[in-house]
Amino acid sequence: MKGETILQNEYINKCKEEREKLEKKLSRPVTFHVTTFGCQMNARDSEKLSGILEAAGYVKKEEEDADVVILNTCTVRENANQKVYGRLGYLKTKKEKNPEMKIMLCGCMMQEPSVIEKIMESYRFVDLVFGTFNLYRFAELLYKSQTHKGLLIEIEKEDQTIVEDLPTDRKYKFKSGVNIMFGCNNFCSYCIVPYVRGREKSRTSEDIIDEVKKLAEDGVMEVMLLGQNVNSYGKGLDEDISFAELLRKVCDVPGIERVRFMTSHPKDLSDELIDVMAENEKICRHLHLPLQSGSDEILKRMNRHYTKEDYLKLVEKIRAKVPGIAITTDIIVGFPGETEEDFLETMDVCEKVRFDSAFTFIYSKRTGTPAASYEDQVPEDVIKDRFDRLLALVQRCGRERAEEWTNETLPVLFEDINRQDENLVTGRLSNNSVVHVKGDESLIGKILPVRLTECRGFYYMGEIA
Ligand code: 5AD
Ligand code: SF4
Repeated sequence: MKGETILQNEYINKCKEEREKLEKKLSRPVTFHVTTFGCQMNARDSEKLSGILEAAGYVKKEEEDADVVILNTCTVRENANQKVYGRLGYLKTKKEKNPEMKIMLCGCMMQEPSVIEKIMESYRFVDLVFGTFNLYRFAELLYKSQTHKGLLIEIEKEDQTIVEDLPTDRKYKFKSGVNIMFGCNNFCSYCIVPYVRGREKSRTSEDIIDEVKKLAEDGVMEVMLLGQNVNSYGKGLDEDISFAELLRKVCDVPGIERVRFMTSHPKDLSDELIDVMAENEKICRHLHLPLQSGSDEILKRMNRHYTKEDYLKLVEKIRAKVPGIAITTDIIVGFPGETEEDFLETMDVCEKVRFDSAFTFIYSKRTGTPAASYEDQVPEDVIKDRFDRLLALVQRCGRERAEEWTNETLPVLFEDINRQDENLVTGRLSNNSVVHVKGDESLIGKILPVRLTECRGFYYMGEIA
């Protein structure tokens, strides 16, 4: 075990002692709740926070009014920030009834100085604030907060330390995210991520494979390799390794049946990666390939380093080599200076590619990013109109693409009992589509062939074949 891991484990023990004292005082178990905003990276971070709290003896509570409440925040768009302030208002009323309650804030939003100022001014009932660079020290910060009254703020600017071998509380027994790299060097002009997650840093392949092996031994059959830009994995490491090579190694771990990854930047997607996907059935037939815009002019101003033509050619190449692959995307509407012609280029790419699904976002101005100072912001009503047109198109394409698989028989990994109908079990195809099948809990964690009997827009009803 490495030094920092030993230290944090010592803090877990100290947290346990403090939690026991509180438990005696309250004569009941001490509970926690973690609310996650944003992306898969944050979801994985929340599993780490929960893992440490559970190791210290805290009991997970479904409702948000627990003794320790953590909001793991996102700041990629302004509405994510607004949601957090909304939750804080609610938590304040809960804390008035439970004076032992600790409210903690972490994640990307906390790396913004203006947010910290606002918390210090208007949200002083918060107990602990930490950021993205010191999350690995959560056990230590939790201990500090347990033994301290009042607001504690612990933010670091940038930290190259990677500590991954601490307890985690996986949401699913049979699948898990695995961080392969942190941060981003791309500086797309609209995006705040490089500022709040720092410069790109990859984990060594040895550490990653060790973690995947341990997960497989613990029953995990599907891993999702996580990074803001997985295609540039390996840069800056002493070893000479590409993302494609890492994928091969992960597929070779005994017990691993499915491998996914998020997110790919079109400019860095190599032929080698396409070949590895083509030759290895364990790699899921799904590629999330953010387009952002179809206009060359806008792409240039977004600092994306590819053209509409490059993107279309790339999709063509991938589909030729990996038949049946689902391609999904992110698109921003209303980037500063976007004209109707620019927008029609985006619509044209969607018509040509026919994405299996697309996340569409309204451009959100993020202070500190280059695009925030671009003067020609698009009026709200124009954006709304474009957004609606785009949404209608991507939904139609998604439905049509999904329809094409009806009556096929494909392997499904079963994940959960359906929330609306407990006679149904929900699973996913390799291409990430959702399938519901009549069945019970015994199916969960199994991969079985399913005939897709009916397509209902974005999901299927199926029967085990
Ligand atoms: N406004 C709107 N959408 C954004 N995204 C990133 N930054 C912004 C922003 N300022 C979107 C991009 C990215 C996804 C995760 O969020 O489409 O791919
Ligand atoms: Fe943001 Fe661009 Fe990095 Fe993605 S690649 S996190 S959009 S800067």
